[in-house]
Amino acid sequence: MFVESVVRWGSWSALLLWVGVATGGTPASSSPWPCPPRCSCHQERLEANCSSQHLSSVPEGFPRDTRLLDLSRNRLKTLARRGFLGLSQLRQLDLSANVLSMIEVEAFQGLPGLQTLLLGGNRLKILPVGAFSGLPGLRLLDLSRNEILVFLDHTFRELGGLRRLEAGENDLVFVSPRAFSGLAGLAELELDRCNLTSVPTEALSQLQGLWRLRFRRLSLSALPNDSFRGLGRLRELSLSQCPRLSALAPNSLLGLNLTSLTVARCNLTAVPYAAVRHLVYLRHLDLSHNPIAVVRAHLLGDLLRLQELHLVGAGLLRVEPGAFRGLARFRLLNVSANRLSTLEEAAFHAVGSLETLRLDGNPLACDCRLLWVVRRRLRLDFDGRPPACHTPVRAQGRGFRGLSEAELPGLFTCRPARILNRKPQEARVEEGHTALFSCRADGDPAPAISWLTPQLAPLSPTGRVRVLPDGSLEVRYAQVQDSGTYLCVAANAAGNQSFSVGLHVRGFSSSSSSSSFSSSSRNRSSAFFSEGWAPPSGNPAPANGSAQGAGPFPFDGKTLVIAVTMGSLSFLSSVVICFVFMFFWSRSKGQLKHTATIDFVPRPAGGASRQGGDRFETGRFTMKLI
Ligand SMILES: *[C@@H]1O[C@H](CO)[C@@H](O)[C@H](O)[C@H]1NC(C)=O
Ligand SMILES: *[C@@H]1O[C@H](CO)[C@@H](O)[C@H](O)[C@H]1NC(C)=O
Ligand SMILES: *[C@@H]1O[C@H](CO)[C@@H](O)[C@H](O)[C@H]1NC(C)=O
Ligand SMILES: *[C@@H]1O[C@H](CO)[C@@H](O)[C@H](O)[C@H]1NC(C)=O
Ligand SMILES: *[C@@H]1O[C@H](CO)[C@@H](O)[C@H](O)[C@H]1NC(C)=O
Ligand SMILES: *[C@@H]1O[C@H](CO)[C@@H](O)[C@H](O)[C@H]1NC(C)=O
Ligand SMILES: *[C@@H]1O[C@H](CO)[C@@H](O)[C@H](O)[C@H]1NC(C)=O
Ligand SMILES: *[C@@H]1O[C@H](CO)[C@@H](O)[C@H](O)[C@H]1NC(C)=O
Ligand SMILES: *[C@@H]1O[C@H](CO)[C@@H](O)[C@H](O)[C@H]1NC(C)=O
Repeated sequence: MFVESVVRWGSWSALLLWVGVATGGTPASSSPWPCPPRCSCHQERLEANCSSQHLSSVPEGFPRDTRLLDLSRNRLKTLARRGFLGLSQLRQLDLSANVLSMIEVEAFQGLPGLQTLLLGGNRLKILPVGAFSGLPGLRLLDLSRNEILVFLDHTFRELGGLRRLEAGENDLVFVSPRAFSGLAGLAELELDRCNLTSVPTEALSQLQGLWRLRFRRLSLSALPNDSFRGLGRLRELSLSQCPRLSALAPNSLLGLNLTSLTVARCNLTAVPYAAVRHLVYLRHLDLSHNPIAVVRAHLLGDLLRLQELHLVGAGLLRVEPGAFRGLARFRLLNVSANRLSTLEEAAFHAVGSLETLRLDGNPLACDCRLLWVVRRRLRLDFDGRPPACHTPVRAQGRGFRGLSEAELPGLFTCRPARILNRKPQEARVEEGHTALFSCRADGDPAPAISWLTPQLAPLSPTGRVRVLPDGSLEVRYAQVQDSGTYLCVAANAAGNQSFSVGLHVRGFSSSSSSSSFSSSSRNRSSAFFSEGWAPPSGNPAPANGSAQGAGPFPFDGKTLVIAVTMGSLSFLSSVVICFVFMFFWSRSKGQLKHTATIDFVPRPAGGASRQGGDRFETGRFTMKLI
């Protein structure tokens, strides 16, 4: 809607110019158009050009109907009060690239029709209030490339018609709260390369009509809440080259209804999901050149109308499946020059809407995960830079566009995850000891290994029961309630496989069951330091931790009596959990084929422990009676 009005204004001014040429220009007159020395004048265009003439003062004697006066690249130092009086038809005045350090109050008085005033590339440090008075028709004011330090209150007071103010590349350190008062019509503001350390929120809130705001080189470290309050009509916001800016507060963009947001070349370490989620009209998001490693799943779904995401040169490692879920209109993804090894189809809501993809400059692994890109290689717009394979070696450097149909079956394939060394693993350890289960898998791409607790909750790399970096499961300071069946899942894009292991933690022997039981709720790490149990690779011999002599389960009558008399809920609940698990476990025997070809045998390996297995069964039965 605003675009429309700008366009309308544009055609109106063109019309005005045309009318001016037709009526006021007296083109029929044969008398030469007066022109000051060292200037060249074009009567037909009503232009006077005195550019690059070493002028140190504004010449006199310009034709009164001059529309454009070019005084750029001279040596003008000051502009005197009412220095342009008489040029009432002037539309554009170019004073850029002089050495102006002073503009007197009312310097531009008498130029009611002036629309464009160019003062860029001078040495202005301060703008006196009133310097721009008498310019009600001014549309564009360029103050960039000066040395302006502050914008004082009411500097632009009388510029009610100003649409665009360019104030980039100054030394701005302060913008006074009322500096922009009176600029009700300002649509575009550019404050590039300023030395501001905060967003001049108060001053900006005067700009009710602002539509596009560009900041560059602010030295902010975080964008505070409500930074842009009062800018309800702002549609395009760009913050760039803010090397210290590492966070946008969750409410920093509150009150804005943007269609385009750029936060580029800053120090953001994550996509500012919380700050942008209310921007439901956002179409263009550019977070390029920030150290963002991951685009997380399901966090951008609120940006219903998002069409373009640019995340160039961000060191991006992963785009999680589901990252663009909900973005039905998503059509351009620019992630060139990152560290992505793949980009899965599952990241998108629907790849059918994707038109442009820049994936070049990434170490791409050409396996089945990228098959969707190859299949669309002739339809997708790669913006002139088709992606190329980094691995496997035989495809290294091959561009996607150049691949023939015949080659595809050999490339872009995956091998499903496969768990190696699927020998049954079962550990019997005493309370307080450590148990270790290995789980190694291969496949292409390399599978991710995860472990599930007997309750089927995923385990993390931290905590007492944790997954080690090599994929092993470690249970430290084992407790009786840790007993149960743990599941290792190896998964890659081509499939997954799982494998279960059993852990039996034995409580303390009956002779000291009372004291050991009470100690089970205390910190035992110092008293019982771990005696690791690790399955010897390739050899399923019983582990060191397995207690061969004593019964595998400590649920003898005495312990139970103590448990009951103490009313220990935690003890009972762990017994119940153990029991429930063993129940399912025994039922699932031989029925795990859909996830893996595991032959899980819930008994200690080796014939010597056959007895232990029997006793185990007995133990279960006893518990069932409880
Ligand atoms: C004025 O003349 C200079 C060269 O002398 C040229 O570069 C500049 O574009 C001219 N200005 C206009 C407004 O035509
Ligand atoms: C503004 O920043 C520029 C570049 O960082 C620096 O040269 C200049 O001295 C700064 N000006 C002030 C007033 O701090
Ligand atoms: C910003 O707003 C959020 C949400 O209201 C609030 O949790 C946070 O404390 C605020 N931060 C500051 C610096 O005021
Ligand atoms: C960018 O952020 C990192 C930590 O997130 C910090 O160590 C670094 O100093 C920041 N860079 C700048 C220029 O502030
Ligand atoms: C937000 O902007 C969109 C597009 O510019 C517009 O259609 C919508 O009405 C605006 N919403 C509000 C609440 O201003
Ligand atoms: C992607 O980003 C690069 C670097 O910013 C830019 O040059 C290119 O034009 C962008 N491509 C598209 C299609 O936007
Ligand atoms: C394993 O595969 C099955 C079916 O193929 C799937 O439902 C399940 O979510 C997968 N699990 C993991 C962890 O990938
Ligand atoms: C247990 O005790 C050890 C040594 O006394 C101590 O280092 C450790 O932090 C304690 N752990 C807990 C969970 O209290
Ligand atoms: C098993 O026990 C023997 C002797 O008791 C010891 O030498 C060996 O290192 C132990 N193995 C493991 C894996 O702890």
